[in-house]
Amino acid sequence: MPGDKSIAHRWLILATTARGTSRLLGLPPSLDVRSTASCLAEVSGRGRPALEAWAVNVWGAAEGHGSTWNPGDPQVPEQVLEVEGEGRSGLVEPSVDLDCGNSGTAMRLLAGMLAAAPFKSTLVGDRSLSARPMERVAVPLREMGAAVRTTDGHAPITIQGGDLHGIVTTLPLPSAQVKGAILFAGLGANGTTVVTEPVPTRDHTERAFAALGLPVHVEGSTITVRGGSDHDPFEATVPGDPSSAAFVVAAAALSRTALSITGVGLNPSRLHYLEILSRMGVRTRLTAEREELGETVGELWVAPDAELVGTEVGADELPLVIDEVPILALLATHARGETWFADVGELRVKESDRLAGIARGIVALGGHAGAEGDDLVVSGLGLRGGVADAQGDHRLAMAFAVAALRAEAPCDVSGMEAAEISFPGFLGVMRGLGAVMEPAS
Ligand code: S3P
Repeated sequence: MPGDKSIAHRWLILATTARGTSRLLGLPPSLDVRSTASCLAEVSGRGRPALEAWAVNVWGAAEGHGSTWNPGDPQVPEQVLEVEGEGRSGLVEPSVDLDCGNSGTAMRLLAGMLAAAPFKSTLVGDRSLSARPMERVAVPLREMGAAVRTTDGHAPITIQGGDLHGIVTTLPLPSAQVKGAILFAGLGANGTTVVTEPVPTRDHTERAFAALGLPVHVEGSTITVRGGSDHDPFEATVPGDPSSAAFVVAAAALSRTALSITGVGLNPSRLHYLEILSRMGVRTRLTAEREELGETVGELWVAPDAELVGTEVGADELPLVIDEVPILALLATHARGETWFADVGELRVKESDRLAGIARGIVALGGHAGAEGDDLVVSGLGLRGGVADAQGDHRLAMAFAVAALRAEAPCDVSGMEAAEISFPGFLGVMRGLGAVMEPAS
C-alpha cells in the first residue's frame, strides 16, 4: 500500500519543526500529502528546497529513482525525503497563500501549527475544500489566543499566530483533524493544553508526540500536552495506509481471493472497519511486525469467504470508520439483506457530500440505496451495471470501481483520476490483482 496519508501529514509537520535533519521514508506521492509538503516549503527556512522539490517532482527527488513511474504502475517507488528543520521558531512568514489543494487534513493541521507561529499566513484550497467547515478548527485556536479569520466559516483562513496559551477543551464533535490542530498549537503555547474527545478518533498525533519524547500524556479520552518543548529530528518509514488497504480487502472479499497485505499500519484506531467486515462475513488476521514512531506495522491477511451478509453500523462506530463508509456501503450492495449506517450526517462535509454521493452512485450502478435523514440504507440486491460519477471524490471513485467487480454488467466510473488524491497506483494495484479496469473508450 502507499504510505498512510494521515500519518504522512503529521510526520511532515514534525520533521519541519524538529531541530536537525529528519529522514522520512515511504511517503505516499498522493496529491494531498504533496499539498502539505508544498505548504511547509513556504514556511520553512532551511528545509524549503527539499520539501519543494519533493512536492513538485516526487520522482526526481526520490533517492535512487528516476521519474519513470507513472500512476498506473502498481509498484510505487520508495519515497525518501530529508527535511532540515530549525525548530518551531525557524518557521518563516510565507510570501504567498498556502494552497492545501483538496486536503482538509492539511488545512486543519497546518492551521494548528501556524496558530503558534508569530506571523500572518493564509490557507486556501480547491472548490471542494473551500466548501468544508473551518470554524470547528478556528474556534479553539482563537480561544488559545490566535487571530483566526475564516470566510463565512470556510477557507480562505487567515491566521495571525503567536503568543498562545493552553486551554482545557472538550471537542464538540469527534474529529482527529481538530484534535490534531489543537495539539500542534498546544506544542507552541504557554502552559498546558488539555483536549477531551467525546468519542475516540485516530490517534496518530499523540503517538508521534510521545515517540519523539514530547510532553504528551493520554489518559482515557483526555490528551494533555505541555507547550514550549523542541523535539529532535527522526528517521521513520510511513506505514502502508490501512484506509487504502480497505479497497483491496473489499476486492478480495468480492472476488473470494485470499491475499496478504504487508507493511500496513495496524493502529487500532484505523482498523475498526475489519470488525464491521467480520460481521459481514469477511475473516481477516493481523500480524504485528515492527514499530515506526509509535505506530505498529505488519501484515493484514484476508480470507476468501462465503456469502457476505448485511450489518448495522452504529453512530458510535462512525468516527473510527469515517473514511471507510464508502467502500463498506458499496460492499453492502453485494451482501445478503440490508446494511444500515446510523447517523452519518458528517459524511455530508467530506471531500464531497458523501452521503448523497454514495446513494446516488449505487443507484446509478443499478443498485438500491438511499439516505433516510442522516442514516444511509443499502440493500444487498447487487449492481446491474451503469455509469456513476465520483464527483471528484477519491474514496467514491475507488469504492464504485471495486464494487463494479461483482456487477452483472460493466460499470463506468467517471472521475477515476481522483484516486490519486490518496491512493497513487490504485488502478495498477487492482489490475495486478487481476481486476479488469480500463479507461473508458
Ligand atoms: C483525518 C481525520 C478524518 C478523516 C480524514 C483524515 C486525519 O477527518 O476523515 O480523511 O488525518 O486526522 P475528521 O477529523 O474531519 O473526521
